[in-house]
Amino acid sequence: MTEKMVNVAVAGATGAVGNQMIRCLEERNFPVRSIKLLASKRSVGRELRFRGDLMPVEELTDESFAGVDVALFSAGGDTSLRFAPLAAQAGCVVVDNSSAWRMDTQVPLVVPEVNPHAIAGYKVKGIIANPNCSTIQMVVALNPIHRAFGIKRIVVSTYQAVSGTGKKAVDELFDQTRAMINFLGYENKIYPHRIAFNCLPHIDRFQENGYTKEEMKMVNETRKILEDDRIGVTATTVRVPVFFGHSEAVNVETREKITAVAVRKLLEESPGVEVVDEPTKNRYPLATDAAGQDLTLVGRIRQDESVQNGINLWIVADNIRKGAATNAVQIAEILVKDYL
Ligand code: A2P
Repeated sequence: MTEKMVNVAVAGATGAVGNQMIRCLEERNFPVRSIKLLASKRSVGRELRFRGDLMPVEELTDESFAGVDVALFSAGGDTSLRFAPLAAQAGCVVVDNSSAWRMDTQVPLVVPEVNPHAIAGYKVKGIIANPNCSTIQMVVALNPIHRAFGIKRIVVSTYQAVSGTGKKAVDELFDQTRAMINFLGYENKIYPHRIAFNCLPHIDRFQENGYTKEEMKMVNETRKILEDDRIGVTATTVRVPVFFGHSEAVNVETREKITAVAVRKLLEESPGVEVVDEPTKNRYPLATDAAGQDLTLVGRIRQDESVQNGINLWIVADNIRKGAATNAVQIAEILVKDYL
């Protein structure tokens, strides 16, 4: 049987996630027949490399998707709201990394290790949503625990890298750090406060309930992906001066009796997870180890001694790869293999 080849578009190709999407398509040998690299008008004239060839960046327009089979979007929520339906109308399936479509009941929200079956729902709108970066790594680690022990409640605090905000935020952390150590002045352009040598308990906009939008994404998306609205989730999301790799302290309370030993064994056998948990040897998940690879690292697995059935975990992954680009390309792989 000859391999199915597809025409692909990447919308937001010049951005941090878009660029990684291109790298993932190459690395994973995605069956690309042709590729279109789309961005805003500002980027017309630029060229990006795909499989050794320099390709022109084209402006994203209403006509961009004629003849395209699969489009990977990472160009912001407004762009997705406007262009994803147009792409779908043109017969293309969109895998969208923005938050625009995630909670639409007619759009599947997918982490391939957790709910690949949900991809089938793409047929209604022609759109599949890629979850929030912090949510993806958390559910990769928690899904096996939920299936085995029944999760009642999750309390999560995140330590999120600036690359999640985009390229300009990476530059801001770099520029501010350099300015600070040289006793020079600096500007806050991307974040409302200095991010260098600081922690900001503020990711995305504040909502009426006092939580940020990022925190509420973790609450709502976790329930949708785990397909269980009974799970209580509460989150505090924090931006920290790390370039790549989100870390999370996660406390889980379960219905069934749970032990650290059982969780460690379960996670050692779970897809997409690597257990890094030898505290006596100073081995635990680190952003520096998670960055540049696709597994979700889990460690510091220990009993929560303050409740009857509880466990604490430290979960780390590359927010640009598994938290965004890799997850989107994994979805596209299943789509091509099983549905197109
Ligand atoms: P451009 O580089 O032309 O501005 P990041 O999240 O790293 O900042 O990247 C955002 C990505 O989304 C970039 O590729 C950016 O293109 C693209 N983008 C932003 N706004 C638009 C738009 N209105 N139309 C098309 N692409 C856009």
